[in-house]
Amino acid sequence: MIYTSQRKRILVTGGSGFLGWHLVKHLSKRHDVSYTYATRRVQIPRCRGFHVNFLHPSSIEPCVQEADPEVVIHAAALADTAECERAHEKAVGVNVTGTERLIRCLPDTKPLLIYISTDLVFNGLQAPYTETDEPDPLNFYGKTKRMAEQAVQRLWKNHVIVRPAILYGAPTSNGRGSFLQWMDQALSQGEPLRLFTDEYRTPVYVHDVVAAVASLVERIGQHRIYHVGGPERMSRLEIGRRLAAFRGYDPSLLRPVTQAEADTGCPRPKDVSLNSARVQAAHAVKFTPFEEALKAIFGGAEHSAGTEQNPW
Ligand SMILES: NC(=O)c1ccc[n+]([C@@H]2O[C@H](COP(=O)([O-])OP(=O)(O)OC[C@H]3O[C@@H](n4cnc5c(N)ncnc54)[C@H](OP(=O)(O)O)[C@@H]3O)[C@@H](O)[C@H]2O)c1
Repeated sequence: MIYTSQRKRILVTGGSGFLGWHLVKHLSKRHDVSYTYATRRVQIPRCRGFHVNFLHPSSIEPCVQEADPEVVIHAAALADTAECERAHEKAVGVNVTGTERLIRCLPDTKPLLIYISTDLVFNGLQAPYTETDEPDPLNFYGKTKRMAEQAVQRLWKNHVIVRPAILYGAPTSNGRGSFLQWMDQALSQGEPLRLFTDEYRTPVYVHDVVAAVASLVERIGQHRIYHVGGPERMSRLEIGRRLAAFRGYDPSLLRPVTQAEADTGCPRPKDVSLNSARVQAAHAVKFTPFEEALKAIFGGAEHSAGTEQNPW
């Protein structure tokens, strides 16, 4: 393990997105952080924002040159699974070609590239997944993220791949939220929610993913892939039940449904729970229990209403 605790120049792509914004906010406390946005301009104190569209290659190089990063965290992506299923060309353009374009613009100083991938690179048949399990994505979003992982592995030696599970946390200053805000908004308005009884994930508090990435920025270990999933395996319905109980919502609004009963137009793995022992052992990441995170999110300071979110 190499410890490098000095201040670094970091470029976070997708700083206007849910995870990217949380990364920039946290990392900028200790480092010089630049970030990119595409369609949602966002101001983050002490940081420099660049307008970059990965579908337009000419916008990438000037940003990388100006930021001159020692670490690049590539979190920008077309992360809406339904949109990826509908718009294959765009999904490949942003998630795969965009990643390759970014790598081609990286300087000769060989910065560390941390690529943010996903639990959806797995087919859901053999959970919990460790870093040595073979990816086999079911939906097009997962396929593009896997292709991007392979591009990173092929083209840039100094890399780490982080695979977070489904994320939740407080909304960003520009109103990006997670599935939690989508559920909370519906339940608070008395709207029924159809939730899968047979689809399992290991939801992870966004601050825990940020902590894992921050540790990777400062301590480079021997591994190239890290799974970052939360401490509990839960079905969608279980998540809804626990949120409703915590917030005092009517549990009868939760309508159990199986994957087979609901046609979402997108192949969905049954169980992509992650085994995150590696990041816990190598980076001392402690995962926040669900109710403790809910307390932090809805307890006041972190929460604000009126968010826009990608439900799943
Ligand atoms: N959310 C999850 O549960 C989850 C779970 C596992 C992994 N991940 C991964 O984590 C990363 C962040 O996800 P997220 O949920 O934070 O996504 P998000 O909120 O949808 O943000 C996506 C980011 O990518 C940018 N982006 C989209 N298209 C772009 C393009 N053509 N050119 C440049 N930038 C573009 C967006 O910019 P604008 O908003 O400015 O357009 C935004 O900053 C992604 O790599 C995703 O695959 C997410």
